[in-house]
Amino acid sequence: MLGKKKAQKADKNMKDKDNETMEKVISLCKRRGFVFQGSEIYGGLAGTWDYGPLGVSLKKNIENIWWNMFVDSRPDVYGLDAAILMNENVWKASGHVDSFSDPLVEDKKTKKRYRADHLLEEAGINPAGMSIEEMSAEIVRAEIKSPDGNEFGEVQNFKMMFETKIGASEDAGVTYLRPETAGGIFVNFKNVVDSFHPKLPFGIAQIGKAFRNEIAPRDFIFRVRELEQMEIEYFVREETWEENFEHWRKNVWNYVDKIGLPRDMVHELEVGDKDRAHYSKRTIDFEFDYPFGRKELYGLAYRGNYDLTKHKEGSTANIDYVDSESGEKILPHVIEPSLGVGRTFLAILTSAYTEDELDGEPRVFLKLKPSVAPIKVAVFPLLKNKPELVAKAQEVFEMIRTEIPQITFDTNGNVGKRYRRQDEIGTPYCVTIDFETVESENPDDAEVTVRDRDTGKQERIKIDSLVSYLKEKIK
Ligand code: GAP
Repeated sequence: MLGKKKAQKADKNMKDKDNETMEKVISLCKRRGFVFQGSEIYGGLAGTWDYGPLGVSLKKNIENIWWNMFVDSRPDVYGLDAAILMNENVWKASGHVDSFSDPLVEDKKTKKRYRADHLLEEAGINPAGMSIEEMSAEIVRAEIKSPDGNEFGEVQNFKMMFETKIGASEDAGVTYLRPETAGGIFVNFKNVVDSFHPKLPFGIAQIGKAFRNEIAPRDFIFRVRELEQMEIEYFVREETWEENFEHWRKNVWNYVDKIGLPRDMVHELEVGDKDRAHYSKRTIDFEFDYPFGRKELYGLAYRGNYDLTKHKEGSTANIDYVDSESGEKILPHVIEPSLGVGRTFLAILTSAYTEDELDGEPRVFLKLKPSVAPIKVAVFPLLKNKPELVAKAQEVFEMIRTEIPQITFDTNGNVGKRYRRQDEIGTPYCVTIDFETVESENPDDAEVTVRDRDTGKQERIKIDSLVSYLKEKIK
């Protein structure tokens, strides 16, 4: 058994290492063009991040895999791309205008604002289910001070929706940037039913931006003000909600496997009655072991028929679902798997970041599953000043590109340096064209070297079979 001091030291060392990992991942993201600070040359804008060329490829892979698994491959799920700006009554009816808020507390002297629940958590107090009055009392009782050493005021509810004005007139109407993509799905429920006449159960899926005026955006792209969600509202008969909840629970795990997140870093958390969103009857959070702690990655909620009921009342439109056989009118219940794109991106990067030693040299590589890697294959001529090697490499590059579009051609530096650059961005395979390739007597026998990112091992593969070999490896 470790003594208390030793255990504390081990704990601190672990935290330092985790902080270091985060710093290294953030620095790699900037250096290699995955993620940049939003509005950087103007000093940034808190809670916003821009995805660079490699970041946007990784993000699109995350989204495409989701869309392919849950929309294109399923006859019962319909895609949607609704407007971000919606009639303000949508958010009044859904309860967001009244209830979508976070507990805020202000430093009495500096007026800086903090999330009260986060302060309590950091002080080792579980804020789950506490009212704002109870949080205020706990902050006083536990003598929690601001980082500047000052006292806090009372905890208040801070509204998280971004408000904006529509139109140019003085009395222009108020609207909000949507805080979840789900809103667009609920108000289009009847449109999809009328156009496609789906039978229950069926789903409507959407990928898109959502906006939240987070009090304390933090942990890189983990908690941001402009985010992206991949959401499905799966409409079911009330009596089948439990089996459909299980169905989507399994599907969340299938997605976790498909994008290569290690299962042992993902954990389910049953969210207690007092902590669920105002619309939810049951929620499971899927949490991930990020370097800064175990935090929410995804949510799976049973929203009952709360939303359709509220929109029917709020809009007075007839949005009932009519069973085509029995003529029965119902407002279906809904199961909602809600996945954040940015949190998936961060989970993939932080779990893939690896340091090891190869050929006696330290190296950094991203152990990405090929399906999410922004670049699947890099092609090089062994030497850049040998035209015959460059020409053959270009020919091989074009041949692969028609079948595998996420590919790059590199002639900078020596081959060793090129391998390290590709390792650092997670490219699973590098193909090198050397003298043996071009000097092969029979062009049908010409071979190239294919190097595996994780092991550094190299294999000779015939150009003839190269595309099918690579396709098999990256699928
Ligand atoms: N429609 C349900 C909904 O929006 P949520 O738990 O508030 O539920 C769903 O959000 C997911 O969206 C989260 O699990 C997370 O992946 C992502 N998310 C929420 N707020 C976020 C933020 N401020 N920054 C980044 N991602 C966020």
